[in-house]
Amino acid sequence: MDSPDAEYRRKERTALAIIIVMASLALASLLVAFSYYCYIRNKVSKRHHKHHHHHQHQHQHQTKGFDHEEKGLIQVTSEKGLQVFSFKQLHSATGGFSKSNVVGHGGFGSVYRGVLSDGRKVAVKLMDQAGKQGEEEFQVEVELLSRLRSPYLLALLGYCSDSNHKLLVYEFMANGGLQEHLYPVSHSNAVYLKLDWETRLRIALEAAKGLEYLHEHINPPVIHRDFKSSNILLDKNFHTKVSDFGLAKLGPEKAGGHVSTRVLGTQGYVAPEYALTGHLTTKSDVYSYGVVLLELLTGRVPVDMKRPPGEGVLVTWALPQLTDRDKVVQIMDPRLEGQYSLKEVVQVAAIAAMCVQPEADYRPLMADVVQSLVPLVKTHRLSSKVGASSSSLHSTRSPTPHEPHKASI
Ligand SMILES: Nc1ncnc2c1ncn2[C@@H]1O[C@H](COP(=O)(O)OP(=O)(O)OP(=O)(O)O)[C@@H](O)[C@H]1O
Ligand SMILES: [Mg+2]
Repeated sequence: MDSPDAEYRRKERTALAIIIVMASLALASLLVAFSYYCYIRNKVSKRHHKHHHHHQHQHQHQTKGFDHEEKGLIQVTSEKGLQVFSFKQLHSATGGFSKSNVVGHGGFGSVYRGVLSDGRKVAVKLMDQAGKQGEEEFQVEVELLSRLRSPYLLALLGYCSDSNHKLLVYEFMANGGLQEHLYPVSHSNAVYLKLDWETRLRIALEAAKGLEYLHEHINPPVIHRDFKSSNILLDKNFHTKVSDFGLAKLGPEKAGGHVSTRVLGTQGYVAPEYALTGHLTTKSDVYSYGVVLLELLTGRVPVDMKRPPGEGVLVTWALPQLTDRDKVVQIMDPRLEGQYSLKEVVQVAAIAAMCVQPEADYRPLMADVVQSLVPLVKTHRLSSKVGASSSSLHSTRSPTPHEPHKASI
């Protein structure tokens, strides 16, 4: 039998053990609770941080934009290096899209002359039916176009795209579109140069190089779809850049109930196979190029139904006369006043005839056209007076005579 003393000690040990077990249990649960607390705290703080960071980022972005906008500096640049403009910026660059700054209208909308706050002169194209296209879709297309860079293509500087507005910003071409010089409007205040033969040859060559780049230096090739004299732009020295290439997907599909020129091309320039079957290839552009060559030779618009019967459609009228030395002289632009080399005219007429032939496969490649024109322009390089006295003659276009000339993009 245990003594009462031993009994007491045993009870004491049991109590101690119970206390120790309970204390460790309490400690363990305390530890679990604490680590759970830490886990939750960590999670909350991470989320908070993220949120905060986002806000901060947004805030910084906005402030940056705001600051720069206020200071009139370039603010946002897209991945491809294109400038992203706010509507407000372009609104002030064009004097509130004032009528006096309109330089033309086309299938896309109106074109305004503008000056950015850093002094650069630009042409701003304001799309008529801005609602049609999603912002992202528009941006993707624009970014694609901006990848096409050549000294013979008009550079896209940036764009503005929000739910209400779609605008494209281009470098400004002081002498506007080729058509304005070939067919000056008599009631306009602008002073137009009579384009001499050398200048016409050089325009033909540089425009051909623009198309050659699109067709042969890009993979897959880009079809211009709307090659015509108003899309051949001239800088202050009458150097040429091709504009509006690949814009077909950007513009409104229908303008005033008609299928837009963006989809169908412009009357008088469209290759017969494209008009008939909708089959579009780079050879359709070669046809349109041939029509422009005919405009340069004859000084006539592609379609003019006010002319006598048989003369309304330029290609139909000119084609039979292009390969005849004597006849070709008779179709030449009277404004040239006979100031050209017949040998060169015959060569250019032969190129034009090949480009506008109905059978697409027999039309030359743009590289062939370039090759044939290069020697003609080279001969004139030393004797040419082009550019020496021709700058800023276009009074309505050249707000100042010091338009910076970009030789290459
Ligand atoms: N970057 C530019 N610099 C100077 N003038 C320009 C510029 N872009 C266009 N223009 C002028 O604005 C006019 C209208 O151009 P726009 O491209 O909108 O129409 P278009 O060439 O007549 O037809 P399309 O819409 O089929 O191209 C042109 O004829 C040209 O005179
Ligand atoms: Mg155009």
